[in-house]
Amino acid sequence: LRFGSQTRSFDTLTGTEGESSIDIKPLLSETGLTTFDPGFGNTASCRSDITYIDGDAGILRYRGYPIEQLATQSSFVEVCYLLIHGELPTSDQLAAFNDELRRHSAVPSGLRLLVDTCPGSGHPMASLSIAASGLAAFHTDNADPEDPDQVETATAQLIAQLPKVAARLYRNSTGKESISSDLSLGYVENFLHMLFGDEDFDQETKELYARAMNLLLILHADHELNCSTATVRVVGSSGANLFASVSAGINALSGPLHGGANQAVLEMLTEIERDGGDVDRFIAKVKDKSSETRLMGFGHRVYKNFDPRSKEIKKLATQILERHGRDDKLFELALKLEEIALNDPYFVDRKLYPNVDFYTGLIYRALGFPSNMFTVLFAIGRLPGWIAHWREQHAESNPRIARPRQLYTGPAKRDYPGH
Ligand code: MLT
Repeated sequence: LRFGSQTRSFDTLTGTEGESSIDIKPLLSETGLTTFDPGFGNTASCRSDITYIDGDAGILRYRGYPIEQLATQSSFVEVCYLLIHGELPTSDQLAAFNDELRRHSAVPSGLRLLVDTCPGSGHPMASLSIAASGLAAFHTDNADPEDPDQVETATAQLIAQLPKVAARLYRNSTGKESISSDLSLGYVENFLHMLFGDEDFDQETKELYARAMNLLLILHADHELNCSTATVRVVGSSGANLFASVSAGINALSGPLHGGANQAVLEMLTEIERDGGDVDRFIAKVKDKSSETRLMGFGHRVYKNFDPRSKEIKKLATQILERHGRDDKLFELALKLEEIALNDPYFVDRKLYPNVDFYTGLIYRALGFPSNMFTVLFAIGRLPGWIAHWREQHAESNPRIARPRQLYTGPAKRDYPGH
């Protein structure tokens, strides 16, 4: 802490300065600095072994493994196992985990009914969160957060059943009959089958889509303590079960500033196209301080460099759009926008680089998803991250209920007006 020209160091855990223990609270409130909270370990922050991010260098690792390698060399199920159990699975462990997922994949008929009753005009994220918390109501034998076997089963039920619900929501929202799962297929292939099983895709397209879905799910699988993950940890810290906590995470993700960002990118590109497709004019508007125009999909709270996820996503977007063999106006606009922004000192100085959301909306759109499904796909990818964080929070040796700190900024004590 610096007081005028004097710098003094305190141990933030104990509040001691050198050998002596002093009350630093008055000093802190005088200087307007944050007040000392010896319980900070269970307030806003957390310790975690799961995901490492270096935003300045543009590095993202799950359990120590670089995202680029996982995204191109692993399956989503392997990444689920890695995030949840801390190690990449051996082939036996992977086979056992896949069996476990298959065994717990039946969505209770009452829950299916509940999902089908939600009007198609509603946002599918609302239905997905109902389904996640509904699992606790239907799988009453697996909702005890203190029983490790039940947590294991609840983990498998969430990962196996929510993609089925997501596919059902997609089919319902587009007025199509739902398609039963095919458990002889791999996890990602089965998900695509439940989504698009009646489409006449050739083998090459099927393989490309499977690669695309696998990559998208892996890239979204965890991202340290963001808004929804913090929510899952906080809710879980009260002793709430895994289903309830994941449902809370889904609701946090549904906000446009979090999971809805890729939809906002697509809307921005559509707007530019509608406005004549003049990217330079759009960039000028973004720089104009009096205008409200924002460059969506650029910049990230933690990255002051390329979002490491966006590089793989860009490659994928290019392949998907080439495969479709169509000129995608919005993709062309995205590329132009990216090129200008990456070379313009205005954006370079502000360290605004394309983030993961810049391309994902374009890919989902090319695959045929309506924009309200984008966040649902994000949620399916984020499941293992939320589950891993819930389990880590729960496993801490002395778990206490989280209580994020508040900084009071209201008036000082006031005299009650006399009558
Ligand atoms: C995410 O993947 O969760 C987003 O990039 C948001 C974030 O990390 O804050």
